[in-house]
Amino acid sequence: MLEERARRERLLAHAAGIASACRKCAIGAQRRTNVYGEGDPCAELMVIGEGPGETEDLLGRPFVGRAGQLLEKMLGAIGLAREDVYICNTVKCRPTLPGPRGPKNRAPEPTEMVNCRPYLDEQIDIIRPRAILALGAPAAKSFLGKDFQITKMRGNWYEGPHGIALMVTLHPAYLLRQTGGELTAVKRLVWSDLKAIRAKLDEAPPVAAPEQAALFSEP
Ligand code: URA
Repeated sequence: MLEERARRERLLAHAAGIASACRKCAIGAQRRTNVYGEGDPCAELMVIGEGPGETEDLLGRPFVGRAGQLLEKMLGAIGLAREDVYICNTVKCRPTLPGPRGPKNRAPEPTEMVNCRPYLDEQIDIIRPRAILALGAPAAKSFLGKDFQITKMRGNWYEGPHGIALMVTLHPAYLLRQTGGELTAVKRLVWSDLKAIRAKLDEAPPVAAPEQAALFSEP
């Protein structure tokens, strides 16, 4: 497993180097850092958000602002530390709009997500997690199409890349904008999605197909 971990770390470091040179979108020239992703290269769970915000752009790490702190609490509620999962985004550069006091965050454009998709696909390909948790509508739509409606369709299992189980829940930044009864209601929804993730990870890992198993058994 140590060798496998080192192999995946090498592959991810190489892929991150290529992504950091990318200038396919205008935001590639505006961002400070390319926020590739971080975490356990052998993680069973991969968490995918929208795109880096200001703090992430500054530090070059995903989910390190307020939404990141809440994400860590959400993961902690199902017994996972940040280091146990792999965290990244649909786009690696911070999408911004000009604002009076400097650039403001915005959701990634569909073309930016398409341009960045090969980098995300490569991360999924290297890590091959047992489950993917997509946070928020843009991340969900990037896997499930533009008609995905988060309020109606979150909380179900979908088939992600390579047949990996894909769950969608509300983005922690959305939770941070809720108050009072609304907050209690959305927390309940997110908790039920997180419990589904926990149950999926607790299922027995898939066994090798008989043909594969035969390759390693005594003749
Ligand atoms: N929101 C995201 O979607 N990703 C981050 O990395 C931070 C905030």
